[in-house]
Amino acid sequence: MRPYFESFEIFSKDEIQEIENLCVSHVSQFFEYTTNKGNKDGNRICVPEQKPFLKYLNKFSFDCHAMFMHHKPNVQVIRHVDDPNKRNCVLITPLYNNSKISPCYFYENGHVETPATICHYEYGKSTLINTQQYHDLKNNENERYSFHVCFENNFNEVVEVL
Ligand SMILES: [Fe+2]
Repeated sequence: MRPYFESFEIFSKDEIQEIENLCVSHVSQFFEYTTNKGNKDGNRICVPEQKPFLKYLNKFSFDCHAMFMHHKPNVQVIRHVDDPNKRNCVLITPLYNNSKISPCYFYENGHVETPATICHYEYGKSTLINTQQYHDLKNNENERYSFHVCFENNFNEVVEVL
């Protein structure tokens, strides 16, 4: 098993479209994420009221919650391990069909130059990523929106049941 990420087909095309419509209706609720150390890291997030998302969250046997993430064009997200914040691993589904979704780079530690692996996202698929491994991203010229299902359980536990 790869310790960094794994791709799955979880949501149908229609479900992804519904989630995209929900994202549009929440667009005014995004804000710059501030890390536990007080830094802005380039991620813009929206933690919506969960009720409209329960039908999607009910697909999973572990406790989880839904959020959206937005990256502005060309933004650089600095290399980090996520604050746990009940997101030890996250199932990421890219929104709005876009053949050029910027990848996420994973590193063995906080110091090496060369990524250990690169996570390429594909529209229509969902990727469970291990947020407790070092990762970063550099967005391209496109707005980048994604739907996140966040788990407190660790990556190895969740990847087993997807
Ligand atoms: Fe992250």
